[in-house]
Amino acid sequence: MIIKPDAVSRNAIGAILKRVEDRGFKVRQMRMTRFTREEAIRFYAVHRGQPFFDGLIDFMSSGPVVPLALERENAVSNLREIVGATDAAKAAEVTIRKHFGTNIPRNAVHASDSPETATGEIAFFFGEQV
Ligand code: CMP
Repeated sequence: MIIKPDAVSRNAIGAILKRVEDRGFKVRQMRMTRFTREEAIRFYAVHRGQPFFDGLIDFMSSGPVVPLALERENAVSNLREIVGATDAAKAAEVTIRKHFGTNIPRNAVHASDSPETATGEIAFFFGEQV
């Protein structure tokens, strides 16, 4: 998971972590960093060529982010359930994106979309430490 620049600037790190921990996740790794444009392009390479790509890169490199390695059973589906839909404006009422996000791409958090993606994304930020 990544807490994105909009949520960091709204002082929502703690509130988001509380929701994640209350859902039964263990925080295994966490740090604050800032994407360079090049890093954001590499992280989101799968979206290259999409009309929203440049805006996504601008936004994700606009301020600090908090990447996390999280652990629990069925982690991907459990996290995506509490995170909510990509468009924060359309996300279900009780979700993290509805509460802390605004729209796309200002949707407060990124959540890996499969265990395989999660493995790659965790390695991107934390190498082999997890
Ligand atoms: P995220 O979970 O970080 O994964 C890819 C991101 O691309 C997504 O959240 C959004 O911020 C962004 N994104 C996805 N679809 C669109 C879209 N149709 N328009 C703009 N941004 C998008």
